[in-house]
Amino acid sequence: MSSTDLTNIAQALVANGKGILAADETVPTVTKRLDAQNIVSTPDSRRTYREMFFTTPAIAEFISGVIMQDETIHQRSSTGIAMADVLAPQGILPGIKVDNGAKPLAGSPDEKITEGLDGLRERLKAYRDIGARFAKWRAVITVSDTLPSATCVIANAHALARYAALCQESDIVPIVEPEVLMDGSHTIERCEEVTGEVLHAVFNALFEQKIFLEGMLLKPNMVISGKECNKQASVEEVARATLRCLRRHVPAAVPGIVFLSGGQDHLAATRHLSAINQLEGPKPWKLSFSYGRALQDEALKAWRGTDQNLKAGQQAFYHRAKCDSAAALGLYGKAMESASART
Ligand code: 13P
Repeated sequence: MSSTDLTNIAQALVANGKGILAADETVPTVTKRLDAQNIVSTPDSRRTYREMFFTTPAIAEFISGVIMQDETIHQRSSTGIAMADVLAPQGILPGIKVDNGAKPLAGSPDEKITEGLDGLRERLKAYRDIGARFAKWRAVITVSDTLPSATCVIANAHALARYAALCQESDIVPIVEPEVLMDGSHTIERCEEVTGEVLHAVFNALFEQKIFLEGMLLKPNMVISGKECNKQASVEEVARATLRCLRRHVPAAVPGIVFLSGGQDHLAATRHLSAINQLEGPKPWKLSFSYGRALQDEALKAWRGTDQNLKAGQQAFYHRAKCDSAAALGLYGKAMESASART
């Protein structure tokens, strides 16, 4: 493969009106989500849950890629097909989460460092052999009056760049995800300041490690008020602050920015994305979605773990993906949520 192939895959992931489904929750995390709906988490129930999304009829209209997790990519569908081969024939690119999770940062116990670099070259090769064409690594940044520390920002930026370099060496497009958490009472201004510092450090590290920017995607948080902040910024304020921050810190060579939802509810995540795309002025990258909870939550509630509700789950997923696709084009409106628009 060549840099042209990496570029083509990165661009395909952010084709007009398309975005990514993040279905890469680890077993403990997806178990928590299933537990909340009284669904027993087993390898089979997790497989059925993921397969509900992957086989939603015509979903490739809106979804360009799916991020899986180690268990899922090694599973076979109910009809005996490897999960990557359920996706690829639909024109959906298979992706894989390759980090080993965020662990306490030595010397700064309230902060996290993402682990998983050891042996990553070999794991990437194995994932590529079973169909993965892109990967994801998530770094987590906690905000308070005194955090993040420079130590945390630099260590995570360095790990993200090492991961990205190994991906590109293995002909896999890296999604670089530095997530500034919404948890806390910080203002939107503080979120913008921290997000800017983090993006600056991340692109500095990517530059130092010679990452081919045209063959990667950035997966950032939106610039948003902390969940416990007394003053919640409006949709318009979130859109303006997010785009301003990205313009200041993300090189135009990056083909796409795919936001995480980060705990926003599904409607907020859709509205914010559409408002960002509606803003005037330069947007040198595609601005789309790589949502987990915001794409899955309605479908999970509709499904509730039973075969007879599978179709309802798929309809809910199709609807949300359609709304997020419209948002990626700046075309989402409230009317899309009406009962008549859903049929
Ligand atoms: P959320 O959209 O639920 O934040 O998940 C996206 C993701 O991939 C987090 O790593």
